[in-house]
Amino acid sequence: MKKIEGKATGKIILFGEHFVVYGAPAIAAAIDNKVIVEIEEAEENDIITDQAVIPEMSKGAIAAIEKAMGIEKKFKVYLKGNLPTYGGLGSSAAFCVALVKAFATFKNLQLNKKQINDFAYEGEKVFHGSPSGIDNYMATYGGVLLFKRGENALQKQIEVKNPFTMVVGFTGKLSPTAKMVAEVRKLKEDDPEKFQQLFDEATDIVYRALTVIEKGKVEELGELMNQNQYLLREIGVSDEKNNEIIRLMLAAGALGAKITGGGGGGCCIALARDKIAAMEIERTLKKNGFDCFTTSVPNRASN
Ligand code: PMV
Repeated sequence: MKKIEGKATGKIILFGEHFVVYGAPAIAAAIDNKVIVEIEEAEENDIITDQAVIPEMSKGAIAAIEKAMGIEKKFKVYLKGNLPTYGGLGSSAAFCVALVKAFATFKNLQLNKKQINDFAYEGEKVFHGSPSGIDNYMATYGGVLLFKRGENALQKQIEVKNPFTMVVGFTGKLSPTAKMVAEVRKLKEDDPEKFQQLFDEATDIVYRALTVIEKGKVEELGELMNQNQYLLREIGVSDEKNNEIIRLMLAAGALGAKITGGGGGGCCIALARDKIAAMEIERTLKKNGFDCFTTSVPNRASN
């Protein structure tokens, strides 16, 4: 039987992760790397992939999306593509969005983006409990977005005046996003005043970054990334590997560097002055045993 395909892109969070869970704005950008799923009717739901996944979670997400979309049949889901599943790049959300698209093709449904996003969120909840939704918005809409949790989540599709180059470095350790979110929640409950202060600073950084991106003053972005990273350290999500990779990125000439996504491992991003500077950052990371790749913002990936 012919397999049916669905695709969705990954993302990097440029500014505002973790604080976004509590209603702060965040800016994220789609990257070229994609999840491709293929589905095939089967006796039971199953996930087949070379990537590192937790099968029970993937199967839980498949079932949640089937339920939301009113699909009674079961499927083998082949997870392919070139979006690493190691955390921070929105792979679980991209998986859910790609799956919704494949199921829509199977059922001959024409879904609009809002419907795709809503169905995908049901799967994303299996992976992350109560995610802010930023990852599934990114996987659904692509581009560069200003996001805020709640009714009017998609605040703005950002026009990037001067495209910029980012190096994404992997710490070598999977990011336990749900655990990191739970730890931040505990910190917030233990010291609400301190958290509020950090939250306000994060909000301010996001709006300053928005202006800088729209006006094309890319060199100022690096400093804002460093300020954002300082806040991420304060809330305890930047572990030793994150700190090491960020130090290497800055030493190799990055204009700014920070965690992207959940932290506690996962990925970090570095703003490079240009493509040549990005190559130098990549070289340094690889020399020190860290996997990495370069992407541009905005990229031309189609969703
Ligand atoms: O680690 P990722 O790519 O799943 O990103 C999570 C982003 C957080 O802000 C930490 C959590 C959320 O739900 O927004």
